[in-house]
Amino acid sequence: MTRDVAIIGQGMTKFQEHWDRGVRELAAEAITEALQDATISHEQVQALFVGSMGRFGGQEHIGALVADYTGLTPIPATRVEAGCACGALAMRSAFLAVLSGLYDIVVACGVEKMTDLTDSGDLISALGAASDQEWELQAGLTFPAVYALMARAHMAKYGTTKEQLAMVSAKNHKNAVNNPKAHFRREFTIQQILQAKMVCAPLGLLDCSPVSDGAAAIVIADSEIAETHECPVWIRGSGHASDTIALQDRPTITNIPAAQVAARKAYEYAEISPDEVDVAEIHDNFTIGELMGLEDLGFVPEGQGGIATEAGETQIEGGKLPVNTSGGLKARGNPIGATGIAQAIEIMLQLRDNAGKRQVEDVEVGLTHSIGGSGATAIVTLLSSKRR
Ligand code: COA
Repeated sequence: MTRDVAIIGQGMTKFQEHWDRGVRELAAEAITEALQDATISHEQVQALFVGSMGRFGGQEHIGALVADYTGLTPIPATRVEAGCACGALAMRSAFLAVLSGLYDIVVACGVEKMTDLTDSGDLISALGAASDQEWELQAGLTFPAVYALMARAHMAKYGTTKEQLAMVSAKNHKNAVNNPKAHFRREFTIQQILQAKMVCAPLGLLDCSPVSDGAAAIVIADSEIAETHECPVWIRGSGHASDTIALQDRPTITNIPAAQVAARKAYEYAEISPDEVDVAEIHDNFTIGELMGLEDLGFVPEGQGGIATEAGETQIEGGKLPVNTSGGLKARGNPIGATGIAQAIEIMLQLRDNAGKRQVEDVEVGLTHSIGGSGATAIVTLLSSKRR
């Protein structure tokens, strides 16, 4: 018989530029807060998974670094890496570790200190290392360029417009105003978004997630421990899939096939269908990412992401499925390793009815969607306030 597994505590730093602190301090703040929230002592934690790309400041061996500075040694500490899906992979690794029966209490943390790299060329190279370095990055295809190609193809195939992309950004920036942990807590009009400086056509500055620092952590436990807590958030389903590292090798670039596979696996495991999901955090590293995510997750038919966004279906007020209530990667920020865990924390706050002014009514099931690179890794997680 499989075990049921839940998240029982969460903590995160504010996402912003943190000039005064390094990876270890950020991770320690998030983990300490998560353990306090879970009312779990350091001595009770049996394993640690840390998601981090780790290329920005040059520090490697981040699992042990975080365990050391947080006072968690000598437990096993493992750093996992999957581009922008690092945090989601840490969460999934911790989930599997508890599900296996080997551990009862495991911490999953994500951390990144991107602003350690001050030269923008170095930063672009570090990020581009999550794509195909030899056949994409060295040919000049940076991440904004990869997603710009996907956006152009989506526009050509389905008639998606730049205005619809801008609506994703406007919505997510609006949601972030009410998130005290968000990097950019300011609204932008559609006009401002359309007129922002061009990064790689059709994606302008306000179509891109920013460069952020931050950490996020969750405590994952088996059902016996979780049932003693007031508001456990059950991990009802988890799907993980991989695909070609290079965009050029895929038969389609208007969607992310690995996300479709990961979503199907997560829905099947959870025995939950897309129309039962009440709130979702979708990987909007670029605005086109949210539109493709809506489609890949089965929330709207293929090609209809832009139309659904324009119809207001993804807004908090009056939307059928509020998306990125935290502000998403676009406005909450995208400190690579921390992002997947921050997504889970937002869903957790929503399920605990603790999301303040961005609270969605009557939430029972939430979903997180994390993409590594241009879709070589996809991880989808279904969370619920109900055990089964
Ligand atoms: N969204 C909103 N505002 C942003 C922003 C963003 N993505 N990026 C920067 N800003 C703001 C800055 O705070 C600054 O504001 P200020 O003038 O009030 O201080 C202003 O815009 C200019 O910032 P700057 O740092 O000069 O921007 P930049 O041109 O160096 O970088 C991007 C902008 C979009 C190129 C950069 O954020 C980027 O590369 N983003 C993508 C990161 C990425 O690829 N992540 C991986 C995804 S797979």
